[in-house]
Amino acid sequence: MKTEKLTAADVEQAAAILARGGLLGIPTETVYGLGANGLDPEAVAHIFEAKGRPQDNPLILHVPSAEWLERYCQHIPNAAYTLAERFWPGPLTMILERKPVVPDVVTAGLDTVGMRCPAHPVCRAIIAAAGVPVAAPSGNTSGRPSPTNMADMLEDMEGKIDGIVDGGPCSVGVESTIIDLTEQPPRLLRPGGVTLEELRDALGEVAVDPAVTRLMGAGEHPRAPGMKYRHYAPKAPVTVVKGDAAATAAYIQAHLGEGEGVVCFDEYADLYAGHTVEKLGPTADKAAQARNVFDALRAFDDTNVTAIWSQCPDEGGIGLAISNRLNKAAGFHIIDLT
Ligand code: TXA
Ligand code: MG
Repeated sequence: MKTEKLTAADVEQAAAILARGGLLGIPTETVYGLGANGLDPEAVAHIFEAKGRPQDNPLILHVPSAEWLERYCQHIPNAAYTLAERFWPGPLTMILERKPVVPDVVTAGLDTVGMRCPAHPVCRAIIAAAGVPVAAPSGNTSGRPSPTNMADMLEDMEGKIDGIVDGGPCSVGVESTIIDLTEQPPRLLRPGGVTLEELRDALGEVAVDPAVTRLMGAGEHPRAPGMKYRHYAPKAPVTVVKGDAAATAAYIQAHLGEGEGVVCFDEYADLYAGHTVEKLGPTADKAAQARNVFDALRAFDDTNVTAIWSQCPDEGGIGLAISNRLNKAAGFHIIDLT
């Protein structure tokens, strides 16, 4: 299959690919998504094939506004409208009770569905032109870091999808926050662009699913099925060193072996001369770190590094999402200096 490269001006062509049951790479503000018509079970099945995604891992539906919630969801709690008002369009996915019209292949048979209204203007234009909810996981091969620009997505999907739209680099860089509104208190299933502090400010109490901060044991089942898989992982094993930036930088310098790579805050890059170094961003700039984290992890797959050491921000604000992605890339292999 030849993958058509489209631009922001080709909205109609992009929508036509969705309408005929094709697969489309779509820019969003979080990461690039692998989209298909969410009401077309056959098209959705092709998403799983292209990604090599396990069948038990449900997809989220992307809609143009909160008004579409009633089409696909029922028993919608007020909290959903509160959150939509504050954070949509934007990097927030809500888990709600689904209506039967949502195909089983989208929800992996669950009685709930993830709903998100993205903010990227090109993405919004494509969804509006298509006139259907767009089912879209992140556009990576299953297990790899999510793509935050068109080139990264083509690395995984060239020849496997009908088209891809270049919407520039993603402004958030980590996937949407997922909150489950089918239980009380609401539960954070995946940290992302909307922070836990913002959710608590809007809703009051919000629980945090254990899968956000630690490895699931045998027999434990995270509420977001996707959180159980080793994920975001480069080929070389990753060790996260957690704690004060200067202390973790020194720790890595002391333990770094020949042929091993480093992910570090910009200020410390000079400590690791002679090694492959990927910069996360300035220590104090978590928004930059969120934009860079997946690209940094991906970059090592073009090198021969045998192991990767990574610094990590604290868990405040979007730091919770960044540390979650790094910890998952490391299989929660963490050295804690705090
Ligand atoms: O930012 C994003 O959310 C991106 C862009 C493309 O919108 N999409 C994305 O999709 O990250 P994906 O499929 O890579 O991650 C969705 C996560 C998975 O961990 C999945 O298990 C979980 O959401 N999920 C989907 N539906 C669910 C449901 N009904 N209940 C619980 N978890 C669900
Ligand atoms: Mg994903």
